[in-house]
Amino acid sequence: MLERITLHDKTFRLFIKNEEIEKAIDTIAERLNSDYANCTDEDPAILLCTLNGAVIFAAELLKRLNFPLMLKACKLSSYAGTCTTGIVKTDVPLPQHLEGRRVIIVEDIVDTGGTIVTLMEQLREHKVKDAKVCTLLLKKDVYDKDVILDYVAMEVPNLFIVGFGLDYNELGRNIKDIYVLDK
Ligand code: IMP
Ligand code: MG
Repeated sequence: MLERITLHDKTFRLFIKNEEIEKAIDTIAERLNSDYANCTDEDPAILLCTLNGAVIFAAELLKRLNFPLMLKACKLSSYAGTCTTGIVKTDVPLPQHLEGRRVIIVEDIVDTGGTIVTLMEQLREHKVKDAKVCTLLLKKDVYDKDVILDYVAMEVPNLFIVGFGLDYNELGRNIKDIYVLDK
């Protein structure tokens, strides 16, 4: 594992090791397994992966979840470079047939919360029975929305990070550990 990496024009240093991330995912998965134990093949949970950032987290979760579920995906974007644009774009809309379903939104990171608020509104329009948020990371000091974040694996300070699905202008998603922008 490298102490420092370079992506495009920026240098990042090691911040959270893969083992620590995986342990946090174990804990979240145990909670989900207990809370969704009453799902059935007729009434499965919908795991809604928000592309592209959440793919690795969603895959790691999937390996650990033991209740009936279906995997779906949508794609929203709000970041350009290392900053939020404040505008949430829908690149791939929600799948059909979510009415009456219990949805678990799987996010890589909640920052301002704009993405989560937009998704929650869209899920309400789709008449889902229930929607919960499951995020690998939360920037607690930045998040200022009212949506309850039911499952948060790890809290991080307000710094720009990459790795484990998170990118800097599309690079860095395939790095196993999380790195932080080196000032
Ligand atoms: P929000 O809508 O402000 O909560 O931003 C959420 C989205 O912004 C996440 O799903 C990420 O795609 C992206 N994002 C936020 N913080 C970071 C970061 O530190 N590194 C990489 N992407 C980030
Ligand atoms: Mg994302």
